[in-house]
Amino acid sequence: MALNIVIMAAGKGTRMKSATPKVLHKLAGRSLLAHVLKRCEPLAAAARIVITGHGAEQVEAAVQADGIGFVRQMPQLGTGHAIQQVVPVLQGEGTTLILNGDVPLIETATAKALIDACAGHALVLLTVDLADPTGYGRIIRNPDDGGVLAIVEHKDATPEQRLIHEGYSGMMAAPTGALKRWVGQLTNHNAQGEYYLTDIVAMAVAEGLPVLGIKAGSEIEVLGVNDPVQLAQLERAFQAQQAETLMRAGVRLADPARFDLRGTLVHGQDVEIDVNCVFEGEVTLGDGVRIGANCVIRNAKIAAGARIHEFTHIDGEAAGASVGEGALIGPFARLRPGAQLGAEVHIGNFVEVKNSTLAKGAKANHLAYLGDATVGERVNYGAGSITANYDGANKHRTTIGDDVHVGSNCVLVAPVTLGHGATIGGGSTITKDVNPGDLAVARGKQVALTGWTRPAKKR
Ligand code: UD1
Ligand code: MG
Repeated sequence: MALNIVIMAAGKGTRMKSATPKVLHKLAGRSLLAHVLKRCEPLAAAARIVITGHGAEQVEAAVQADGIGFVRQMPQLGTGHAIQQVVPVLQGEGTTLILNGDVPLIETATAKALIDACAGHALVLLTVDLADPTGYGRIIRNPDDGGVLAIVEHKDATPEQRLIHEGYSGMMAAPTGALKRWVGQLTNHNAQGEYYLTDIVAMAVAEGLPVLGIKAGSEIEVLGVNDPVQLAQLERAFQAQQAETLMRAGVRLADPARFDLRGTLVHGQDVEIDVNCVFEGEVTLGDGVRIGANCVIRNAKIAAGARIHEFTHIDGEAAGASVGEGALIGPFARLRPGAQLGAEVHIGNFVEVKNSTLAKGAKANHLAYLGDATVGERVNYGAGSITANYDGANKHRTTIGDDVHVGSNCVLVAPVTLGHGATIGGGSTITKDVNPGDLAVARGKQVALTGWTRPAKKR
């Protein structure tokens, strides 16, 4: 039986007070709409349709992917009007699942339960018991058998109906054929002058079709975002949920309230994370990895036993960054895309590494830059030394052999190769290759003027 998934995302989101369409605002680093799409990915669907309207071009560009279709709703005359626009593209006579682009945390299992209960012939509503149901459509049930009779929108509800705490989440599964017929019969004779999708409930009841209300497992999966306050509240709720999952899997978080994961975190055993760390994209932490306070780590793999000290920034961007087993990084280190550090590498404070490979045991402990470099084992790279990798037009590589010692404040002008075991005197500007084992010094010679007197101030 064909399944259609329809996500309503045409609304304006006025209360966000933002130039960005509401569904593109981010929760845990990903747009609200992208969360919804991701959560229905595992559902085998004949069609996935996003209804766009306000900021349509921006919304469509942001989430376009194979297998996702867009239908525009202009102007936006209500949720029923939105579904009227997709009628021509709905496939088959099976089930249509309707979700909201601004309710990001719907569980895949809940969506599946709605689809299964619908089975192409019942109308199934996802409902939720709310402490404060203000603004929600109320579920009107038959006092005798508890069956659902209708949904009445908050603005149209009587004072008695407003006392009902069971609200409509905005998500439903409907028989596709009947849905097409029902939305064609909607009117806008109501308090908001809108075409309400929720009016189809009374139509289904009148036709004698089964109407079921399934209660959401948790409030968080039906919470919508209307303003920046709700966005921040949902962000914290989601972060707390992620933190709890990680802690139950053995990760030790110093404070789950000061932890942010904006992507996925794969971890080994005995991982410890201090306060105020942010993980973005795809991050892997091996066994026994410890992350100090205030680190930001994005798209990186940290191998077992490595220690990332406080205030370190690692951003692998698209290329990724990797830290070897037992390496010591930071505090205040910066690893950029293509930084590939071997086992037991030490990167200290104010050291920046970009697109460079450092072999086992190499050390750059203070105030240095390694860009586009290949660094051998046990290299000691002195404080203040840099690779001058950019000639103003092109980037060039620096190759440093095993056991090279680079003194402090050296400039290695690329392309250049330092043979294994070479030593570079402090303060040198190296523009020519250095043979293995040689000492290279390239700086002004020290002179001593005996008996020289300093100038005195004129009176
Ligand atoms: C809707 C429900 C209400 C439910 C509530 C849950 C209706 C009539 N009411 O009310 O019963 O309790 O959701 O949050 O359905 N949208 C469009 N085009 C439109 C109007 C809305 O695509 O013309 C989209 C919005 O972008 C949003 C969703 O539909 O994603 C819901 O719209 P919204 O205006 O928030 O509905 P509510 O008034 O909250
Ligand atoms: Mg509305």
